[in-house]
Amino acid sequence: MLPNTLFIGQQLHYLPVCESTNSEAQQLLNKNKATEGCTVLTSEQTKGRGQRGNNWEAEPGKNVTLSVILSPVFLPVRQQFYLNMAISLAVLDLLREQGAAEAQVKWPNDLYVKDKKLGGILIENTINSHSLQHSIVGIGLNINQLGFGIDTATSLAFVTGTELNLEHVTARLLELLEKRYLELRNGKLAKLKYEYLQALYRYQEQHQFIVDGKRISGNIIGIDEDGRLGVDIAGELRFFSFKEITYII
Ligand code: BTN
Repeated sequence: MLPNTLFIGQQLHYLPVCESTNSEAQQLLNKNKATEGCTVLTSEQTKGRGQRGNNWEAEPGKNVTLSVILSPVFLPVRQQFYLNMAISLAVLDLLREQGAAEAQVKWPNDLYVKDKKLGGILIENTINSHSLQHSIVGIGLNINQLGFGIDTATSLAFVTGTELNLEHVTARLLELLEKRYLELRNGKLAKLKYEYLQALYRYQEQHQFIVDGKRISGNIIGIDEDGRLGVDIAGELRFFSFKEITYII
């Protein structure tokens, strides 16, 4: 099913099995075989990659596993976190529209419902002097999977009690991605940041984190221009990059 879009998902590569759609997308780029919006889609990943060097595991045939190639050449490197915000919001739009009203984004771009992870995003950027050249936006969403080896994961079907049509959900995701990406391209940065903060997991709430191997308690107060998480720790405002802070859930 082709999405109703201008460019995202109009060039669609479906692979029944592959190692990682992000790696496949990179190979298409290397061979100059991809135009903007080109999407690689699979039913089964054998070496799915997550953030922090983690693996991404998903039951074959039950989930959304895809990568979209974008060319955000209009975005200065210093503003690259706006791409993360736009993509996170698009996925959130999908989850909420499909019945997961309580979905939120856990900084920087995990999709959560209550305290369980429903999906993740892995964005790999190529940078050319001062701006982004290519971004491979990899998205893994648990849709119809009901069993997980861990109790910190969930799926749309689990949350809503309804099995979903994967093709339809995928097409809709591509449409919503294009909508948010066009907002980014049209410079709606303040709007994207505002909506991202409204959707942020544990925003303006006291929460426990691990920093420098120690447990601390802090209140998330925002995100700076570099995408770092701003946390008020006992009256002192500190900003953390992705590797410097871990949520305790
Ligand atoms: C995370 O939460 O750690 C990010 C997970 C990203 C997984 C997706 S699945 C499609 C794409 N291909 C990959 O190898 N990873 C991303």
